[in-house]
Amino acid sequence: MTKPLVILTHPMPEDWIAPLKDEVRLVVGPANVAGVDPSLRPYFAEVEGLLTWLTDRVDEALLAQMPRLKVVSNLAVGVDNIDLEACSRRGIAVGHTPGVLTEAVADLTWALLLAVGRGIFTAAEDARRGRWGLWRPDAWLGTELHGATLGIMGMGQIGQAVARRGAAFGMRILYTSRTAKPEAEAALGAQRVPWETLLRESDFLSLHVPLTPQTRGLVNAEALRQMKPSAYLINMARGPVVVTDDLVQALESGWIAGAGLDVTDPEPLPPEHPLYRLPNCLITPHIGSATHTTRRRMTELAIANLLAGLQGRPLPHQANR
Ligand code: NAP
Ligand code: GLV
Repeated sequence: MTKPLVILTHPMPEDWIAPLKDEVRLVVGPANVAGVDPSLRPYFAEVEGLLTWLTDRVDEALLAQMPRLKVVSNLAVGVDNIDLEACSRRGIAVGHTPGVLTEAVADLTWALLLAVGRGIFTAAEDARRGRWGLWRPDAWLGTELHGATLGIMGMGQIGQAVARRGAAFGMRILYTSRTAKPEAEAALGAQRVPWETLLRESDFLSLHVPLTPQTRGLVNAEALRQMKPSAYLINMARGPVVVTDDLVQALESGWIAGAGLDVTDPEPLPPEHPLYRLPNCLITPHIGSATHTTRRRMTELAIANLLAGLQGRPLPHQANR
């Protein structure tokens, strides 16, 4: 029997994708090209499985060219790059990778939160550039985490893992989410509050919602103006949840004290972007889940989703119905 044709949209380490090679005929797209590259078009008529990255857009126009497609397996928990409804209409299962990346992303959130709250990057840069001078009691002062209020927007798997770290640091935990999380409330003393309260009371506001029509542009000028001038914004969700130009204005005008961003709009953020010039903004290039262990686990889960979809079995983690 002929093995099903699968497109992996971009190259990945050979040993990560080795388990796929026995099961499918694999076509690999080019590196450093965002999206499903047109050079793969000759395979569209026959392809049954797509293994995508979060930088690949899967929409109606693409699906219409792939009549035999059974499954799209996204190497990410976020599925905002995929038109889920269009896939469902065509009976195409969409897989994603929740859970396996939760702790790694929460760790990076914490790294950004500590780095901006204590001004680690500016202090380290000053030391490296010979601006250390005599020790002073009033230099490089940061914000104490103990007793500060951590606001979580989106109390899902990652939001709760971040909240656990906050509780261990002795922080007061507030959250906003669509549904109440009684277990987190009992275990961490977390309190569910309206979005406006979260904005007003957080010393650190950490974003963990998916990108949806409801969350796009959520953190705009109006929201940023409600935050404390001493507060920090951490975006680990998706770039377009924050209105970039409004954030630049907020940081330049002192509406908030600083920001740590693992995701930006656009991505990649071009090197000439004003956000890079702001001393109170730290940007990492979307590396939330980037540990050796987690990226391997994500790949294993993405392959398991893909093979299940090709064989008509329920996906271990399906994002659409
Ligand atoms: P999750 O477990 O599904 O959590 C998402 C949470 O957001 C859920 O609690 C959900 O509420 C809540 N939510 C959704 N829409 C909302 C709204 N309009 N208002 C308030 N809350 C809302 O997913 P996760 O694994 O924690 O991942 C969350 C997101 O993080 C992903 O979608 C992705 O965009 C981002 N992410 C980024 C990185 C990175 O590298 N920076 C890595 C992984 C994930 P309910 O519980 O009530 O449904
Ligand atoms: C990464 O951003 C993910 O959604 O997994």
